[in-house]
Amino acid sequence: MSSTRKRILVTGGAGFLGSHLCERLVAEGSDVLCVDNYFTGRKDNVASLLGKPNFEAMRHDICFPLYVEVDEIYNLACPASPIHYQHDPVQTTKTSVSGAINMLGLAKRLRAKIFQASTSEVYGDPTVHPQTEDYRGNVNPIGPRACYDEGKRCAETLFFDYHRQHKLRIRVARIFNTYGPRMHPNDGRVVSNFIVQALKGDPITLYGDGSQTRAFCYVDDLLEGWIRLMAAPDDVTGPINIGNPVETTVAELAHKVIELTGSRSKIERRPLPVDDPTQRCPDISRAKSLLGWEPKVPLETGLKKTIEYFDRLLGSNAAPVETRPVA
Ligand SMILES: NC(=O)c1ccc[n+]([C@@H]2O[C@H](COP(=O)([O-])OP(=O)(O)OC[C@H]3O[C@@H](n4cnc5c(N)ncnc54)[C@H](O)[C@@H]3O)[C@@H](O)[C@H]2O)c1
Repeated sequence: MSSTRKRILVTGGAGFLGSHLCERLVAEGSDVLCVDNYFTGRKDNVASLLGKPNFEAMRHDICFPLYVEVDEIYNLACPASPIHYQHDPVQTTKTSVSGAINMLGLAKRLRAKIFQASTSEVYGDPTVHPQTEDYRGNVNPIGPRACYDEGKRCAETLFFDYHRQHKLRIRVARIFNTYGPRMHPNDGRVVSNFIVQALKGDPITLYGDGSQTRAFCYVDDLLEGWIRLMAAPDDVTGPINIGNPVETTVAELAHKVIELTGSRSKIERRPLPVDDPTQRCPDISRAKSLLGWEPKVPLETGLKKTIEYFDRLLGSNAAPVETRPVA
């Protein structure tokens, strides 16, 4: 039976950001196909959507071609945290590069609009602050983060070549640090790490002296930016920074988490990992002027929602919190 609903493919749809995106698109009435190989994603993340008539989940690795009929594609598939993407670095680059080629090929065949979840990591350890989209970055091509950073950079190249060569309608968002419910509890990302440690009463591990800054965006704000970008006129291809420009030092974050959880955890210092950026903050002027977008959720509000989620997850004992890469 034919339908007038927009058919949308979300790769990496069972992950942290993907599951929120699927939820939002389903609520808006689109027909959503979630594709995931469950490397870091979890079926639990989309369990509440499974009974909906306009949602479908499919196990598939985007390193292999996919033949489906859709109108739009959001390409999110790729492990996002260093612990996960460094577990199998070759597979990480393959996912970014071969995955992009497969999804762009699909979009070309269907004349579908396609979105790429790129990253602030394309700026590497930036020498320019805050980062504007025309900053070319400072990435170490042979370091342990390169599988992710260079993979994402190459994916951007592919998106823009498909756009120039095949007139494909593309949208490239450079996503900065995002947090919220359904982050993976063991992925080593600073927000989830601190919250889980605080809730368990374990020491809060602070890398370096804690003066390195991050700019944390709440997931709902991020998605609003993505949806606006996708709906923007076709000449708005990006790349466009989507993130929160309010800088917080990692030490401040640790203290905030301790305060909001009422934890007795103590702070424990560890050496800074290799190639860890010291400062990261988006310039979002482009998103403001082209999309009329800026983040609205204050850090404290977002942290409270995230803490509630982890509190339930850890308290329930039901969720399988280990995934292959951590084992
Ligand atoms: N969360 C952030 O702060 C952030 C920042 C910058 C960029 N991003 C990008 O956003 C996207 C989503 O990130 P996330 O935080 O939700 O991470 P996540 O690890 O929770 O989600 C990634 C999803 O992709 C799936 N996946 C991985 N390889 C795959 C493959 N080969 N085939 C099919 N599925 C595969 C995983 O199983 C998972 O469900 C990623 O592309 C990431 O690079 C996220």
